[in-house]
Amino acid sequence: MKNGRIAGTGSYVPETIWKNEDLEKMVETSDAWIRERTGIGARHIAGEETVAQMAVKAARRALENAGICSTELDLILVGTSSSESIFPNTACLVQDEIGAFRAACLDVSAACTGFLAVYELGQLYIRSGKAKNVLLIGADALSRLADWHDRGTCILFGDGAGAIVLTAEEQETKACERSIRWRKGVSLTCEKGTYLQMDGRAVFQFALSRVPEVIREVLAEADMAVEEIDAFILHQANSRIIDGVAKRLKAPKEKFPRNIEAYGNTCAASIPILLDEWNRSGRAQKGQRIVLSGFGAGLIWGAAYLEW
Ligand code: COA
Repeated sequence: MKNGRIAGTGSYVPETIWKNEDLEKMVETSDAWIRERTGIGARHIAGEETVAQMAVKAARRALENAGICSTELDLILVGTSSSESIFPNTACLVQDEIGAFRAACLDVSAACTGFLAVYELGQLYIRSGKAKNVLLIGADALSRLADWHDRGTCILFGDGAGAIVLTAEEQETKACERSIRWRKGVSLTCEKGTYLQMDGRAVFQFALSRVPEVIREVLAEADMAVEEIDAFILHQANSRIIDGVAKRLKAPKEKFPRNIEAYGNTCAASIPILLDEWNRSGRAQKGQRIVLSGFGAGLIWGAAYLEW
């Protein structure tokens, strides 16, 4: 069966860094509180830079890493919930910048599960034979949706973009997705023109119950045991959520790579940024068994099993 293999990865975060100490000057908080409750030490802030500009930079790096020319792309999918442009969509803006003129272009709004959603769609296009080379991007600038006077939310978020190129390959694989589950929830919302609103404890509980559940489901579908997985690449929302998921799965924390300390929660970008770091640091090995899991506003959550 034809399946999409990760042929290359790329990521980009803006230059401006706001450390926890910088936030101490904006709201009543402390570096110690933020680190203890979330694991976050700093976040990158887009400023004038748009979501599409960040997406283009990540995309170029992924294409270069994959050794694929933009004109070979059949499809560009962007997971984003914070694009400045309502239309054209971000995928069209990326297509224009990188010259991928054969590619179909779609955005998916699925908040922090945005990358899982485009991953599933990309695989479906490849398995159906409609696409051979697919560019998947997660890009967000939640710093624009956060109220920098609200210490309960602003400390969590940062900006960035990550991208992968999937290439169709004949594979003997059990790769599959158990995405995406959708249920309207009120614990994390954002109306147009307003700041995001969140019930942190409710979101925390939602993640701790749903993420291990959906990971178990995708592993059952792939006929894999938790112990057989080399790495669980989770959405980087809170280090304590990642620890809680590891505990519930009875898996060692070391199998849960994280970079939340440096970036905070970059929404749809967090999983592909982590995949890029995994790849470029030499930790990625062919045949490695990886689980991805995203969760967040919607409420939306999902998981995928893949072989590198
Ligand atoms: N600095 C210092 N104190 C803070 C604070 C901050 N940034 N934010 C909240 N507090 C205070 C609260 O006012 C409260 O004070 P009180 O006890 O005097 O009332 C106390 O800390 C505890 O607040 P609480 O909201 O119960 O803390 P918490 O342990 O639940 O941590 C979050 C708050 C937001 C870090 C945590 O709930 C969380 O990460 N939830 C998940 C959010 C998430 O991941 N969202 C994105 C999903 S994709």
